[in-house]
Amino acid sequence: MWVQDAWYVAAWTHEIEPGRIHARTIIDQPLALYRTTDGAVVAFEDRCCHRFAPLSLGRLEGDDLRCMYHGLKFAPDGRCIEIPGQKLIPQSACVRRYPVAVVGSWVWIWMGDTAAADATSIPSSLALDDPAYRLMASHLDYAAHYLLIDDNLLDLSHLSFAHEKTLGLDMPQWADQRPHVVPLERGLRFQRWLANHPTRGFMRKLGERVDVWNSYDFVFPGIFLQRTTFHPQGTAERSGGREPEGEPPFYRVDEQAVTPISARASRYFYAAGARRDDIDPGKLERLFGVTQLAFNEDKTLIEAQQKTIDLDPTRPMLGTSLDAGPTRFRKLVESLQR
Ligand code: FES
Ligand SMILES: [Fe+2]
Repeated sequence: MWVQDAWYVAAWTHEIEPGRIHARTIIDQPLALYRTTDGAVVAFEDRCCHRFAPLSLGRLEGDDLRCMYHGLKFAPDGRCIEIPGQKLIPQSACVRRYPVAVVGSWVWIWMGDTAAADATSIPSSLALDDPAYRLMASHLDYAAHYLLIDDNLLDLSHLSFAHEKTLGLDMPQWADQRPHVVPLERGLRFQRWLANHPTRGFMRKLGERVDVWNSYDFVFPGIFLQRTTFHPQGTAERSGGREPEGEPPFYRVDEQAVTPISARASRYFYAAGARRDDIDPGKLERLFGVTQLAFNEDKTLIEAQQKTIDLDPTRPMLGTSLDAGPTRFRKLVESLQR
C-alpha cells in the first residue's frame, strides 16, 4: 500500500533535459516528464486518455505534447487541444497532470490529491551549485522495497560493520553510541557525538583523532539531510552532548532521497560534499568515490536481504535496541497510509 499524499523526488533537475520526454515511475504510477520552453517541468500520467499509449513515446511540439499513436495533442495543463479528424474536443479529453516543484536540485512530484499539494511542506535541501559548498551527485537503482533502504538510513550503526573499511573506519562507536532521536513532522531527527574518531586520508590534517558531531533529519518517504562536523578532541565533552557552537574545521554535507518505484524497485538519489573552503575538487572526488563504494556495499546487502525476506515474508524479525529509528519511522509510515 502506497502513501499517495506525499511529495516524491522524481529526478535531479539536470536529468530533465529540455526537448525530451522522460519516463519515470513513482509508487507504481507511470509518469511522463518534460520541460516547457520556459524551463518549467510538467508531469503527466504516462497514459494517453485515448487508448492508453504511453505519452513518453510521444513528441514535444513547443510546450505541448502529441501522443504518437493517433495524434491527440495535449497542452501543459493536461487538456487535449487537438484530435485529428475531429473538431469537437470533449471535456473528458485530458490527461492527469501532477503538481511539480523544484526545491534545491530535486524535481518533486505530488502523487496525491492535487488540492492537498503544498510545496511549502517540502524539506529544504541544497542546490548542487550552491556557492558555499562543493557537491557531487548521482543515483543508484535498487531491486528492493524502499523501506529497507529507509531502515538502513535510520540506523547508522551499520557503518561499523557494513562499511567497516569505507565509512566506518574500523570504529565501533557508530554501533555503540545511540543517537538522540526527536520527532519531526513526518520524520525523525538523529543527533550524536562520536568522540575520538580516527581520521584517514586528507582528514589526517585535522589530527589523528577528532570529535565528530553527526546530525540528520529523515523525512518521509526517505529524505536524508545530514550535516557532519569535525572538531578537535575534547569538543564533545565540553559541549555536554549538545550541538557544537562555532565554526568547525571541516563541515561535511550528505543529502539523499529514496523514491519508491514499485514493490521491488526504488531509486536512491544522493549528493555528498563539504563546505567550499574545506575541500578542493580533487579531494571532493575522493570523498565522493569512497561514499559511492559505501553505497554499493549497502545495495549489495539490501538487495540480498530483500531476496531472503521474499523466501518467507511472514517470518518475524528479531527486534534490538538498534531498531528504535526504523521502528518509529515505520509506525509513522503506517499512520500516513491510513
Ligand atoms: S492512444 Fe494516444 S492518440 Fe490514441
Ligand atoms: Fe550505509
